[in-house]
Amino acid sequence: MTQTEIYKLTGEDDRSVIASAADIIRRGGLVAFPTETVYGLGASAYFPGAAKKIYEAKGRPSDNPLIVHVSDPREAEDFAVVPDEFYRLAGRFMPGPLTVVMKKTDKIDPSVTGGLDTVAVRCPDHPAARALIKAAGCPIAAPSANRSGSPSPTTASHVLADLDGRIDAILDGGECRVGVESTVISLDGDGGCTILRPGDVTADMLAEVMRSVKVAGAVTDPSLATDRPLSPGMKYKHYSPRAEVIAFDGTLEAMIDAANADPAPRVGAIVPDAYSGRVKGTALLSGDGGADDSCHVFFAQLRRADELSLDRVYVRVPPKTGKFLALYNRLIRAAGGKITKS
Ligand code: TXA
Ligand code: MG
Repeated sequence: MTQTEIYKLTGEDDRSVIASAADIIRRGGLVAFPTETVYGLGASAYFPGAAKKIYEAKGRPSDNPLIVHVSDPREAEDFAVVPDEFYRLAGRFMPGPLTVVMKKTDKIDPSVTGGLDTVAVRCPDHPAARALIKAAGCPIAAPSANRSGSPSPTTASHVLADLDGRIDAILDGGECRVGVESTVISLDGDGGCTILRPGDVTADMLAEVMRSVKVAGAVTDPSLATDRPLSPGMKYKHYSPRAEVIAFDGTLEAMIDAANADPAPRVGAIVPDAYSGRVKGTALLSGDGGADDSCHVFFAQLRRADELSLDRVYVRVPPKTGKFLALYNRLIRAAGGKITKS
């Protein structure tokens, strides 16, 4: 057991708090930190053995590679073979919720990249995250700061619930803005790219700077995530609360009727605020129900379902377009690949 320190970011004394956290990273320890997407569980990407500690703390399979975070896109040159297209993407989307997979150099230990010869690079759009990387003086390898398989954390208390006593510190920067993890892409080598994991940076946005944008089949069909997937993370069971998640394909009204008719003792449904009075069981609210609000609350509401010991949570299957694609991708995994039709 490790004593997990909690460092609050208040805007007052943040430099000294970040300096303490950076010190832990430099010495090979583990610090959870906020990003604009979800909280990350960070360790030095250069310190021998530090990545292994991340896998242990999370209970993560060691072949699932970590994302390496930088405070400035140019830092990628220190450990990756960086093509021009990366800078075109960085100019438009970094700092921001986009992760780009490139060839790695020997500077990165294979334990960071799950044995792959590629490395995923991301420059987060959160001032504390970038300040931490700068103060540590090294790139920071960080997966989402949850126990492997459970919903990604969007607050410091989510991180604490999963990792208390397993990591050295948490930088508490409040709620994450986006709520789902970054868009992960690989470069096709012909001016195009392929979305391996959808996020807040959409296919249409990427098409503004890339010649073509493909979406990997496993994004919408988890059964296509085989043993040798493009992105190893896609093959694992993901984001699952203890409650059974029902991905409901139908109108909002039909979903609420189905939830209200469900004989299970404790039933919840994620619905827009305006529908809260219609749910007989527990209404888990999703703001205006648009893509931004729905993504923002999704993981937090799955965790809340467990706090309330719900048996089942109904979630409406969103369209596979725009920012909703990220939610579709997380939801079908949380529901174990099963879609319930109205
Ligand atoms: O928003 C995010 O990306 C958050 C925050 C903390 O930055 N991080 C995150 O990390 O979601 P993680 O480890 O939970 O998800 C990383 C995903 C996995 O699906 C992994 O397989 C994929 O990125 N990935 C990492 N390195 C890769 C590589 N070299 N090739 C292909 N996929 C890779
Ligand atoms: Mg994760």
